[in-house]
Amino acid sequence: MSHQLLLEPIHQFLQCKTPTGWIEKAKQPENLEVLLIDHMICELKAAQTAMYLIRKYAVDKESGDALLAWLEPYEQFIYKKQGSLSDLANKNRLSKQIIPKSDSPYGQDLIDKMVLLIKEELHHFYQVLEIMESRGIEYYSIKPSRYAKGMIRNVTSYEPNTLIDKLIIGAYIEARSCERFATLAPYLDDELNNFYVSLLRSEARHYQDYLALAEQIAGEDISDRVKFFGELEAQLISSPDEDFKFHSGEPTQQ
Ligand SMILES: [Fe+2]
Ligand SMILES: [Fe+2]
Repeated sequence: MSHQLLLEPIHQFLQCKTPTGWIEKAKQPENLEVLLIDHMICELKAAQTAMYLIRKYAVDKESGDALLAWLEPYEQFIYKKQGSLSDLANKNRLSKQIIPKSDSPYGQDLIDKMVLLIKEELHHFYQVLEIMESRGIEYYSIKPSRYAKGMIRNVTSYEPNTLIDKLIIGAYIEARSCERFATLAPYLDDELNNFYVSLLRSEARHYQDYLALAEQIAGEDISDRVKFFGELEAQLISSPDEDFKFHSGEPTQQ
């Protein structure tokens, strides 16, 4: 599938394009460091969100523990600055099969999609770290942007709407990431250009998986809720933002 075909549904789903002001800022070589570090953290966050969803809604304790153990070395790296690229080289695997809770109404499909997503995000994490290492960029902790918080703040407080809202937000974050990778790639050097283009296919699938799960679990039309988060997302992306991160808004200064 060509990139254009891949991106078409994403552009329809998102209510605005990345502002040119953001692209201008992201093109500047001095901003590459923060962009890569934030990207790497976002890959972990994506894996954690998916893990949280299956642990909360779909699996028994033993499977939940195996999921925690899977992500632990990556979390140690980000939050405790422990471990290195070579330590993470063969850590991307689950120690046991993940089994649905007998009383989970969501079960296997949620697990299958989210386990694949976690595997891919952790692989992306490793790839970003590899690129950082080869360029002598050292990891340091940075504050998250307003983006994800701005949406999560609006999640409904009762089930199953909480889960449905979280899945819709997941779809928006994945779709925006895909749109940003595609928009920014041509302005970067060959290595990063190729890397960002290589991420499009999986991020586009992640967006579709989240949306499909939201629709399936709701079992009814959710277009109003999708529209609500779509408007909110577009506002976070297109309104002025003093911060510069992978998902930040229109930069207030260049
Ligand atoms: Fe990713
Ligand atoms: Fe993703």
